[in-house]
Amino acid sequence: MLLGVNIDHVATLRNARGELEPSVIEAAKICIKSGANGITAHLREDRRHIVDFDVFSLKNDLKCRLNLEMAATYEMQKIALELLPDACCIVPEKREEITTEGGLDVASNPEKIQKFIEPLIEAGIQVSLFIDPDRHQVSAASDTGAPFIELHTGAYSRAFGKQNEEEEFTKLKQATSLAHLLGLKVNAGHGLNYNNVLRILEIKDIHELNIGHSIISKALFVGLDKAVSEMLELVNKI
Ligand code: PXP
Repeated sequence: MLLGVNIDHVATLRNARGELEPSVIEAAKICIKSGANGITAHLREDRRHIVDFDVFSLKNDLKCRLNLEMAATYEMQKIALELLPDACCIVPEKREEITTEGGLDVASNPEKIQKFIEPLIEAGIQVSLFIDPDRHQVSAASDTGAPFIELHTGAYSRAFGKQNEEEEFTKLKQATSLAHLLGLKVNAGHGLNYNNVLRILEIKDIHELNIGHSIISKALFVGLDKAVSEMLELVNKI
C-alpha cells in the first residue's frame, strides 16, 4: 500500500502569519526523503491553505509525485491541464466547510463528471473521484471512465472505537470489493490516524492512502521525518 502525505496544513500554518514559514516545499522534501510515495495538496477555490505557487513548485522544482485535490470547476481544470500533476482527485467543495465533509455526488450526474474529467484523462493524469463508500456512488464512478476512486474514510474514522465502527468498516470493505469487480483502483483517505489506520490495512486491495492532519499534527511533537516514517511503518505492516 502506498502513502501520499497531504501537506495542506503546513500551508495553513504558513498562511496564519502571511509570510514564508514553514515552507511547503521543505516539508514535501522531508516527506519524500522519509519514504512517502507522493505528496497530496488540495488547491481550494478560496486558497485558504495551498496556493497556486505551491503546486507549481511541487511539480516543477521538487518533481515529486503530485496528487492534486481539486473541485470540479473550470478554473481548476485549467490549472490542472497546465500543471499536469501525476494524479488528480476530484472532491466536492463548500466554502463554509472546515474540511472535505462528504464525498462527491457522482450518482446524480455521472455524465457531467465524465465530461469534466475527460480532458484530464486525455492529458495523461490519473483521475480519481473522492466518494463515500456507497454502492451507487461506486458504480456511477465506474460509468464515468475514471480509473480510480478514493473512498472517504471520515465516517469510519469518526466511528473508530465506537458502536458503529463495524458498520462503517464494512461499508469500506464492500465498496472496495465492488470497485474491484468494476475494474476501478481504490485509494482511501480522510481522518486516518496512527490508531485507526491499522484496520484499513485489512482491506487488501487498497492502492494508496492519503493522510494529512494526523501526520502534520504528530510532526509538531516528533518532527516530520519521524511522523512520516512511523506512519509508513504501519502502512507497510501488511
Ligand atoms: N483525501 C482527500 C480527498 C481529502 O480531501 C483529504 C483532506 O484534505 C485527505 C485525503 C486527508 O485527510 P486528513 O487530513 O484528515 O488526513
